[in-house]
Amino acid sequence: MANVEDNLFEKDEDERSDIFDAPHFLSIDYIPNQLIFRENEIDMVKNNIKKVFDGLAPSHMLIHGPPGTGKTHAVKKIKEDFNEYAKNKDVNAGMKHFSCKNKTTYQILTRIARSFDPSYPSRGLGEGEVVEDVAEFVDDEDSHYIFVFDEVDKITEKSGKGDGIGDLIYFTTRLGELIDKGVGEEPLGISVILISNKTGIRDDISEYNKSTFHPTTVYFKDYDVDQLRTIIKRRCREAFKDGVIKDDVIQTLAQKTRDSNSDLRFSFTVLRVAGELVERLNLNCIDESLLEKSFEKVNEQKINEAVKEMNETELMTLWSLMQAKKKVNGEGITSHTFYRTYENLCEKMNIDPKSHRHLTSRVTSRLESQGFITAELKGRGRGKGVNLMYRLAGKKKLKKAIEEAMSMRYDEYAVIRGSERTNLKGPWD
Ligand SMILES: Nc1ncnc2c1ncn2[C@@H]1O[C@H](COP(=O)(O)OP(=O)(O)OP(=O)(O)O)[C@@H](O)[C@H]1O
Ligand SMILES: [Mg+2]
Repeated sequence: MANVEDNLFEKDEDERSDIFDAPHFLSIDYIPNQLIFRENEIDMVKNNIKKVFDGLAPSHMLIHGPPGTGKTHAVKKIKEDFNEYAKNKDVNAGMKHFSCKNKTTYQILTRIARSFDPSYPSRGLGEGEVVEDVAEFVDDEDSHYIFVFDEVDKITEKSGKGDGIGDLIYFTTRLGELIDKGVGEEPLGISVILISNKTGIRDDISEYNKSTFHPTTVYFKDYDVDQLRTIIKRRCREAFKDGVIKDDVIQTLAQKTRDSNSDLRFSFTVLRVAGELVERLNLNCIDESLLEKSFEKVNEQKINEAVKEMNETELMTLWSLMQAKKKVNGEGITSHTFYRTYENLCEKMNIDPKSHRHLTSRVTSRLESQGFITAELKGRGRGKGVNLMYRLAGKKKLKKAIEEAMSMRYDEYAVIRGSERTNLKGPWD
């Protein structure tokens, strides 16, 4: 047998990190035992679903609020505790969590079915049949189920059919109808919890389902800088060895997180990158300059990923602003100039342009909230009203990301870029 000193893993024991105590606390999947500042929201959800234990059916719920405000983790923690409690008390009830991101309603339905029967086919049946089968699974188990549908606004829509959330709610209602409730019996059936970070999701839902679906709403509001600092500090205490990061560096990170419209996931990633950098450079603490370096690195990745994930209209909007910017010499871009550029570029790219109103009422506000552009009202002179002036957030990194995403997605883009180089007037004229 090999000597202890020869064991690859034994040898590594001496080289354990001087920086990290437990880096997994900075992983974005780690679910903290306690979500501070979310006690009220968690209580609201808990008080509704605990009705199951009194023989009543909980109402449907909608949980919404900006990204990174703890919606998913709050509900996952509730789910774990709910299922454990139900099991201990021998109550027939269960909570299941499904992510809807990039899935069609059909894929979501079959996933529900497979959570009851792992051998359930993932294709080949009609939507109606899958709904009926799910109803039967619930019926057979004599249980009340709470299905959580997370990121409902990111359901992949069937082309031409429109509304994924509407479909999901329709199937939920249908399930409710299919599951028999005997008079005076224990509640049997399903309640759903929808989760979304989309602004205006409430209106979307009430618009589509005026009469059938009335969820109780819980809003998770953004953390302020102080709250961010407190949460980040707690995580640092768990993840790093004592003295690796000082309070004022944590304060800077909280402020930067807020200023860059980022969330806690971003802060945790910056900390992980900073910790790894400290180790690599054989230093012993994360100071301001190291934080800055890590922040820039993670921010660049974040921009690239966000731009890559954008839909066509968002990307075309950014590209149009980028092109229009060249014309305005450092001034803001008027809404008129922006739209004219956009229309021209769409034509060149063989893309159907969206209406001016759609862009200014929906798309630009979304890009603004992500920190990619700013929009500012400016007077046109006395008595002449105001203009909305747009600016692209002035980072070279953003431009690079837009160009990369455009050339990855569109063959036409290369042609336009080519003519742009030879035609000084630019593609928008
Ligand atoms: N109050 C809190 N205390 C500790 N950690 C928190 C708190 N709120 C959020 N977090 C952490 O922040 C990260 C983001 O939380 P979560 O994934 O739940 O956000 P979300 O609201 O679901 O965001 P999205 O809308 O983008 O899905 C997670 O790593 C989570 O553990
Ligand atoms: Mg989430």
